[in-house]
Amino acid sequence: MVFRRRYTGLIDQYRDRLPVHDDTRIISLGEGNTPLVRLNNIPKILGKAIDVYVKYEGLNPTGSFKDRGMTMAVTRAVEEGSKAIICASTGNTSASAAAYAARAGITAFVLIPEGKIALGKLAQAMMHGAVVLQIQGNFDKGMQLVKDIGETTPVTIVNSINPFRLQGQKTAAFEIIEELQAAPDYHCLPVGNAGNITAHWIGYTEYYQHGLVNSRPIMLGYQASGSAPFLRGKMVDHPETVATAIRIGHPQSWDKAWNVQKESQGWFDECTDEEILATQKLLAEQEGIFCEPASASSLAGALRDVKQGKIPEGSKIVCTLTGHGLKDPDIAIKQSQEVITVKAELAEVQQAMTAYLK
Ligand code: F0G
Repeated sequence: MVFRRRYTGLIDQYRDRLPVHDDTRIISLGEGNTPLVRLNNIPKILGKAIDVYVKYEGLNPTGSFKDRGMTMAVTRAVEEGSKAIICASTGNTSASAAAYAARAGITAFVLIPEGKIALGKLAQAMMHGAVVLQIQGNFDKGMQLVKDIGETTPVTIVNSINPFRLQGQKTAAFEIIEELQAAPDYHCLPVGNAGNITAHWIGYTEYYQHGLVNSRPIMLGYQASGSAPFLRGKMVDHPETVATAIRIGHPQSWDKAWNVQKESQGWFDECTDEEILATQKLLAEQEGIFCEPASASSLAGALRDVKQGKIPEGSKIVCTLTGHGLKDPDIAIKQSQEVITVKAELAEVQQAMTAYLK
């Protein structure tokens, strides 16, 4: 029998590269170490010789990449004596903050835009016992309120303006490099508040500067057309998209993300809601991977750029799938074929099956 070391989360894994002390009490749920899955069927359908991997961040403990940042942010908040954390969120940050606060035994306050967060995310925040404050305004308004509250109230902000969040999230780049034994040629991400693209660049740069790899990827950030400040070149006051996770018009990491684009010689592009949903479905049906709508924008954009020749054949591409499809069951059901209702009788069930037998 071969014994494997028990995986205990990304802070233990990358302790020497993260801002923790020897005696820091680590608040972890075993986040990180997510699968990098090579796509088999979609490149064939596309008819292009490309090597595409998806980093399935939906398999983190609360179902999104936010857990990477939250383990760091909550660990440090607790170490510094904080008794409460707060965030504005389109859903995933609130789910993650709620879970890690529960684990740490502190209070989480979460501000969410009323009616605009996916059901699974709301269920998570509520279930973990967060104080859920629905605001009659969007994420950007919530973010402003959180910053104001942070100045007057003894709570730690755990949005990605908290630098420990980006430190935790940079570990996704480490994992990718270790697995591929090199940096990919292109790394594609959905962009909302722009923290994650910034964090990945920090991670890639760190391994590059320490001589562990001899290149960094070209970073590509994709936004939903109705919420695309990086494409418009200015903030968007009334963002809209079916991908509620990235329904953000005033990204907090604006300058940092432009810097990533320039340094990596990458680009931003936009995807329509139709493209996002079609790619979410394609991935689910062709590869067996279920991500939430916002996550599919990374692959939607990458596939378009491959088709148009902006990403050359022969490239090694990684697309981050930021959140699990189960977060947003309403959208999934809406865009799928109807279920077939039959009597509970053998002949009826067999009859209903015949059209589908291959
Ligand atoms: N994908 C998903 C599933 C997200 O939840 C988010 C952000 C992003 C992509 C964009 O990442 O903001 O770092 O550019 N969600 C935040 C939240 C805003 O509140 O859950 P980003």
